[in-house]
Parts: sequence; C-alpha cells; structure tokens
Amino acid sequence: MSSTFAAPPIHEESLGASTLEASIEEKIAATIDDLIAQIPNPEQLTGEQRRGIIARYTAVLEGNFIYWMTATFLAVKSQEAHPILLENLYEECRDSHPAMMRSFALAAHAFPTDKDALAVDRNLTAMRLFLGKLEGVPSLLSMAFFEGWIQKFMAPLAKLAELQGSTEMVYTDVHGVCDVRHSQELFRGVFLEMKRYPVDEGTDIFEGVNLLSTLVRNIVQG
Ligand SMILES: [Fe+2]
Repeated sequence: MSSTFAAPPIHEESLGASTLEASIEEKIAATIDDLIAQIPNPEQLTGEQRRGIIARYTAVLEGNFIYWMTATFLAVKSQEAHPILLENLYEECRDSHPAMMRSFALAAHAFPTDKDALAVDRNLTAMRLFLGKLEGVPSLLSMAFFEGWIQKFMAPLAKLAELQGSTEMVYTDVHGVCDVRHSQELFRGVFLEMKRYPVDEGTDIFEGVNLLSTLVRNIVQG
C-alpha cells in the first residue's frame, strides 16, 4: 500500500469502536509490511551499503528511542496507558538497550560517523518536533507502529551484521521477541487513550507514523 496515510481519512463517528480499532491496526500492519518489502537483499548490497544501514539505524535508535518513549509518556493523559509506557521504559533502562545497540554496531564495524548521523538529521528532527507537540494518541500510535516495525526489521538487521562479520546478536535477538508484546500493549494504550481523551477534530493521528516511515526509509536507503 501507499506509505502515506493522507487519504482516506478514518471517521470515528461512522465506524464502531472495534471496527475503527481494527482499521487502524490494519493500516499500521500494511505500512510495516510495505516498509519491510522495500529493504534490499543484504547479500546484494556492498559492504559500505550494509555498514551504512546499520550505522544510520544506530544513529537514530541509540540516543532517541528512550527519549521518544518518554515524550510519549508525557503526552499521554489516561492513567490506564501510563503503565504500558513505564514498563517499556523500565526494560529499556534496566537492560540498557542503548548499550546493547552500541555493542551491536561496534561488533559489525558500523558505529555511526558524523556523516551517518547527519544523513538522517532532517527526518529525525521532524520526529523530535512532532513529539514535542505532546499529542497523546498520535504519539502512542507512532510508538506502536515503531515497535511493530522493529520486530520485523530484526532479521534483516541481523543478516546485515552477519555479512559484515559480526556474531554479536544480543540486540536483534532481544528485540525480535519482546517488541511483539510491546507493540500489542501499545495498541491497547492507543485505544484506551482514544476513548478517554478523543483527539481534536482535524488531528491526523497518523502524523507520527508517517514521519517515522520517512525516517525508516531514510535509514534503509541512505
Ligand atoms: Fe529496546
């Protein structure tokens, strides 16, 4: 499907709650599948292209994921959704996922350079500014999408690292499993927040999803 959610809009009033929820989840799943399908075969890339994907991914994830999740926590108003985000943050900090990420990149000889970081700067900044608006539902939905994408990206990411000579796969092993549950829980949080605090008319609940989709394409394509 198209990678943009500009149309058709979802009209909550014309759909039952469960139909609306299913529609949102289907759109997210289709977007993830579309992004995964765009990933080139790691075996057909040059070593530098493989290194670049790992490096850009690391430049984005290592220093930003906990920040994104924290901003989402600050944006969400419903008491019921807070524990979902806190559990996620707890795991990130307790198990030091940024350290895991750095070990993974270093072992693949793909620690990001200034050029790698700057290659994703514009789209990363757009995501930071979006989260700064502190809108609960769009922020939560973007995190649910991202956890779902990460889970499916772990196999190609591990393959890229393996082809670069690495055997350090703790990061990809951990995120290929735990992010399935995280994504499901975050969707539950999205729907709880939507019921308690419906979005203002005209709000594009997929704004963050679209920004992250662009950032993901930037990571993969350079
Ligand atoms: Fe993580």
